[in-house]
Amino acid sequence: MSRIPIIAANWKMHKTGTEAKAFVEQLKGLDLSSQVRIWIAPSFTALPVVTAKKTPFVFGAQNMHQADEGPFTGEISARMLKDAGADFVILGHSERRMLYQETDDLIHLKLKKAVEADLLPLLCIGETEHERAAGHTERVLAAQLTVALKDINCAEVVIAYEPVWAIGTGKAATPEMAEHMHLYCRSILADIGHERWAEQTSILYGGSVTAEAARALFQQPNVDGALVGGASLNAQTFYQIIQGVNP
Ligand code: 13P
Repeated sequence: MSRIPIIAANWKMHKTGTEAKAFVEQLKGLDLSSQVRIWIAPSFTALPVVTAKKTPFVFGAQNMHQADEGPFTGEISARMLKDAGADFVILGHSERRMLYQETDDLIHLKLKKAVEADLLPLLCIGETEHERAAGHTERVLAAQLTVALKDINCAEVVIAYEPVWAIGTGKAATPEMAEHMHLYCRSILADIGHERWAEQTSILYGGSVTAEAARALFQQPNVDGALVGGASLNAQTFYQIIQGVNP
């Protein structure tokens, strides 16, 4: 079964609408392969700016609230994101887990709401350095997947394995390490869902992805693309990562 590679940009709290628009114009002008899907998650305010015009890219958000609507000052709903042109939403990013105390149970509620609203969830999972050193990596990933995906059809989800120790540190996982963990995630998906879902679900790697690291990572049969932070902020650098899919 062949999964079409996805290269996703998580811009975090970077780029205004104007800057996002300039990036999209620049990337659009480059020679892009039709064999790869390019996803971009800009800020909430940049979303309607970049989705106003037709582009070859898929746009999404970096977070959302689990309720339909209500007295939640400063929050944003799935329906608002859809209306702003989002097709996917990143959920469970380690920065949300660590800085905003998001738990697996909360991420599960958000994920359910996203699927209900026809937003494709991009679920992030990953262990901390401490958890890896203690030999708990597999246990952590299994728990994160099992709780977040309870009663969810796995076919409607994309997973990003982002070891916390690799995010923004310049220390990407080795291709072999990523392949090993992605295979492990597939075994969990098979346990909680269905063998076929486990095979169909795209699993991206995230954490200090650069053009150099990307080529070797994408050669692994179970690495279906990347979720890129810092290196996605520059259109040329991001383009070089995209090119790593078909070297
Ligand atoms: P970096 O690519 O900057 O390490 O960030 C990865 C990430 O958090 C993507 O969601």
